[in-house]
Amino acid sequence: MSFSLLRPIAAALTFLCLLPAQADETVRIKVEMPPAAASALREEMLMKLQAIYQVEAALAAGKPADAVEFVERHLGMGAMGQHATLPLEARPGRYLPETMHAIGRQSHRHGSELSAALKADDRPRIDAALRDVTATCIACHSSYRLH
Ligand code: HEC
Repeated sequence: MSFSLLRPIAAALTFLCLLPAQADETVRIKVEMPPAAASALREEMLMKLQAIYQVEAALAAGKPADAVEFVERHLGMGAMGQHATLPLEARPGRYLPETMHAIGRQSHRHGSELSAALKADDRPRIDAALRDVTATCIACHSSYRLH
């Protein structure tokens, strides 16, 4: 993705984070996909949440590097294409609206920055990357839903 497209997305993310939580059914766009794809997406989400926990646990233990691999695999670029071997109707990516997909890609980029920051044991960089990853969770969740 080009930088010209990234800038408005970054602006939108910042804007969304400043809004009070507004995640009711009238605001969020319903994304249609077959049950198999929805199930794959939900599984992916649970791993994302677990990855956030891994970061917090590693930081609390004073061992940021412990979370590097898990974060890259489930939040970073390493998570992209993880459904490529599934049947077509089980691949959530192909059912996402373009803006939602772009938020997802942005999330993976921030995830890889987070894993690099953890590896470098650079606390301010870790904090910033964790903030940026979480901003993409919020941005997507407050704009899209499956139910
Ligand atoms: C590109 C969009 C997108 C991004 C980015 C995203 N999510 Fe999700 N997430 C969804 C959608 C869509 C659902 C399904 C909501 C529904 O059930 O209507 C979901 C559901 C979930 C669920 C519930 C899973 C279940 O079992 O039902 C969890 C937990 C979750 N996300 C965590 C996260 C975390 C943590 C992040 C950030 C690290 C994140 N998500 C980033 C789109 C996204």
